[in-house]
Amino acid sequence: MMDGDVPPAPNGKANGAALERSRHGDPAPIIRVEGLSKQYRMGSNVVWALRGVDLEVWPGEFVAVMGPSGSGKSTFMNVVGALDRPTGGSYWLDGALVSDLSRDQLAAIRNRKIGFIFQGFNLLPRQTALGNVMLPMLYAGLNGQQRRLRAQEALRLVGLGDRGHHRPSELSGGQQQRVAIARSLVNDPALILADEPTGNLDSRTSVEVMAILQDLNAAGITLVLVTHEPDIAAYCSRNVTFRDGLVVRDVLMPSVRRAHEVLPTLPAIGEEEVA
Ligand SMILES: Nc1ncnc2c1ncn2[C@@H]1O[C@H](COP(=O)(O)OP(=O)(O)OP(=O)(O)O)[C@@H](O)[C@H]1O
Ligand SMILES: [Mg+2]
Repeated sequence: MMDGDVPPAPNGKANGAALERSRHGDPAPIIRVEGLSKQYRMGSNVVWALRGVDLEVWPGEFVAVMGPSGSGKSTFMNVVGALDRPTGGSYWLDGALVSDLSRDQLAAIRNRKIGFIFQGFNLLPRQTALGNVMLPMLYAGLNGQQRRLRAQEALRLVGLGDRGHHRPSELSGGQQQRVAIARSLVNDPALILADEPTGNLDSRTSVEVMAILQDLNAAGITLVLVTHEPDIAAYCSRNVTFRDGLVVRDVLMPSVRRAHEVLPTLPAIGEEEVA
C-alpha cells in the first residue's frame, strides 16, 4: 500500500491529514472529536472500545477507517453518527458540541445532516425499494407526493430508476446496497457514514458501489467509510487506522484510485468463467 507523504501519527495526536487540511484553509471540520472514549460494561467486566480518540474530518474528505476486528471502528461510527453516546471526551458535529444537544436536537441533526449505509443494507423486507428510500423523509416535513418524487430521483441517481417497486428480496446484493445509498441521500446530508458497505459484495459490485460514492464525494458530500480491504481504501483520499481503540495511523493518499477508470477493466458479472 502507498503510505503517503504525510508521516503517520505515532500517538494518534499529530493528525497529519488535519494539519495538511488546515494549511489549505478550510473553514472548519465537519467532525471533530477530542479524547473520545467509550466503555461497555459486561457484568463486572469493562471493555474499552475507544480510549481517547482525537480526529478531525474536513468538508469534502473521503476517509477510509481501517483496523483489525474489535479495534473500535463501528463504535466510533456509532458515536459520530449520534446513534450512541461516548463515555468521555468531546464531539463537535459541524461546529455544534453534541453533548450539549437535547435528545430531540440530536435526532434532528442526525436526520438532517447524516446519511447511514450499513454492511447488511438494513432494508425493510416488506417495503419496496421506493418505500425504503422514502422512510428517512417521514419527519422532513414533505408531503407524500414530494417524498415519492425525491425517492424516485435518488433511485435514479444510483441507477435503479426502474426498480422502485421491487422488494429487497427481488434485488441483487449490489442493488440492495444501492437502495441503501439512495436512502442515505434523500435528506441531502452533508455527511455519509458507511460501515463496511462493500463487506457483503463481490469485487466488481464493490467497485460499482465505490464509483457511486466517489461521485457523491465529487458532488461535495463528505464520506467516512469503514473497510477491512486495502483495495477499497485505495478509492478514498485519506486512510485512518484504528488499533485497540486508538488512531495509530492517519495518512492522506498521494493518489486516489478512480472507480470509473477501474470498472471497464473488470469482467462483467458471470463472465469470469468464460475463457
Ligand atoms: N454493545 C457492546 N457491548 C459490549 N462490548 C461491545 C459492544 N459493542 C462493541 N463491543 C466491544 O468493543 C470493542 C470494539 O468493537 P467494534 O464493534 O467497535 O469493533 P470493530 O473495529 O468495528 O470490529 P469489526 O471489524 O469486527 O467490525 C470490541 O472489543 C467489542 O467486543
Ligand atoms: Mg465493525
